[in-house]
Amino acid sequence: MSPAVLTDPAAPGSSAATGDDLGPDDPLTTKEGWRRFVERQLEPPPLLAAPALARLSGQARADYDEARRDYHCDLPLVSTPTIRQTITTSRLLIQLNRHQVSARRGVIISGASGTGKTTALTQLGRTHERHIRRRYPGDRYRLPVLYVTVPPAATPRMLAAEFARFLGLPIPARANITDIVNAVCATAAHTRVELVCVDELHNISLATRAGAEVSDTLKYFSERLPATFVYAGIDIERGDLFAGTRGRQIAGRFTVLPAAPFAYGTSEQREIWRALIATLEGLLRLHQHQAGSLVTLDEYLYQRTTGMIGSLSQLIRGAAVLATLDGSEKITRELLDAVPVDYAAEQADTARRGRARGRRREPGT
Ligand SMILES: Nc1ncnc2c1ncn2[C@@H]1O[C@H](COP(=O)(O)OP(=O)(O)OP(=O)(O)O)[C@@H](O)[C@H]1O
Ligand SMILES: [Mg+2]
Repeated sequence: MSPAVLTDPAAPGSSAATGDDLGPDDPLTTKEGWRRFVERQLEPPPLLAAPALARLSGQARADYDEARRDYHCDLPLVSTPTIRQTITTSRLLIQLNRHQVSARRGVIISGASGTGKTTALTQLGRTHERHIRRRYPGDRYRLPVLYVTVPPAATPRMLAAEFARFLGLPIPARANITDIVNAVCATAAHTRVELVCVDELHNISLATRAGAEVSDTLKYFSERLPATFVYAGIDIERGDLFAGTRGRQIAGRFTVLPAAPFAYGTSEQREIWRALIATLEGLLRLHQHQAGSLVTLDEYLYQRTTGMIGSLSQLIRGAAVLATLDGSEKITRELLDAVPVDYAAEQADTARRGRARGRRREPGT
C-alpha cells in the first residue's frame, strides 16, 4: 500500500485561504512564522481537460503553468515511517509528561543529513498545535508549540535568546541570561507551551566548555518548563551528547528515533521504496505523464538518491518543473538526468558506478 499524503483540512481564515506565504521576515523560529506554517494548507491546482486548456488565452495559460510550477516546487509531504513514529511517540510522551513535575521524558530524532529530521519535527509540532487549536478554538493566546534551532557555536545566552525571539520577547542588550530565561519561562507558562522542538542539536558539543554550558541551559529550560522536549540533529548518538555524567542523564530520559535513508535490499524494502515513489508520482499535475511510469524507474531513482527522501523529492520536483518549462508535460529518465542532486548523493552514486565497473573488469584481469 502506498504511504498517505499529509493533509489536513484548511482552517477557516487560514493563510491557505488567502494564499499568503511565509515572508522572509517570519522564519519558522518566530511565533508568527510558526503560526503561518501551522495554518498553511496548499491546495493542488486543478488539471484542466484538453478543451478547457485549449480555450485559455496566452496570459491565462502562463498563469496556469506558473501555478503548477509553484505547486511542484513545494509538493505535499508523504507520511513516512520517521514522521509517523515521531508523532506517535512524542504525542504519547506529551500526555504522560502532563502529570510529571520533574524528570519529564523526551525524544531525539537522529540520523544523517537529508533523512527528513526537520520535516518530522516540524510535522509533529504542526500536528500537535492543530490538535490543540481544535480543542480550544477560542484561545488565540495559546502557544502550544515552541520551535527553535541551536545556532552554530552557540553560547547559553544565544540559545536563551532563540527561545525569547520565538515568543517575541525583547532582548535588551543589558539583560543577562537569567533575565532572559526567567522571561521565557514566565511567558511560556502563561501561553501554555507544552511541546518544545529543538532542531540542529548537533551544533552542541559537550567536548567544549561552551557546548557543555549550552547543554546545561537546555536542561535547565526542560526542568523549568512544564513541556515535552523533542530534539533533532545529525547522528546524535554517535556524538558526545550521551557521554559522561551529563550525557548519561540525557540518555536516561530520552528515546532516540532513528531517521534513516530508505533501503533497497530485500523485496519488501523495494516494495516500500516503490510505494513511496508511487505516492509522489500521484501528486504530479502534468498533462502527458502516464501514471506508473516513474515507479518503473525505481532502481535508477534509488541509485541517484541512495534512498534519501530529500534527494528523491528534489529529483522529482525538479523534473516536474522542467516538464512544464519545456512543454513535454511528463517525467522521463532524460529529464531526471538533467536535475542535479546534492553532493552526498552524487558522490555515493559515482562510487557505486566505480565499484560496478571494477566488478565487470575483474573476470578478464
Ligand atoms: N515525508 C516527506 N515527504 C516528502 N518530502 C520530504 C519528506 N521528508 C523530507 N522531505 C524532503 O527532504 C528534504 C530534506 O528534509 P529535512 O530538511 O527534513 O532533512 P534533515 O534530516 O533535517 O536534513 P539536515 O540534517 O540537513 O537538516 C526536505 O526539503 C523535503 O523536501
Ligand atoms: Mg534539518
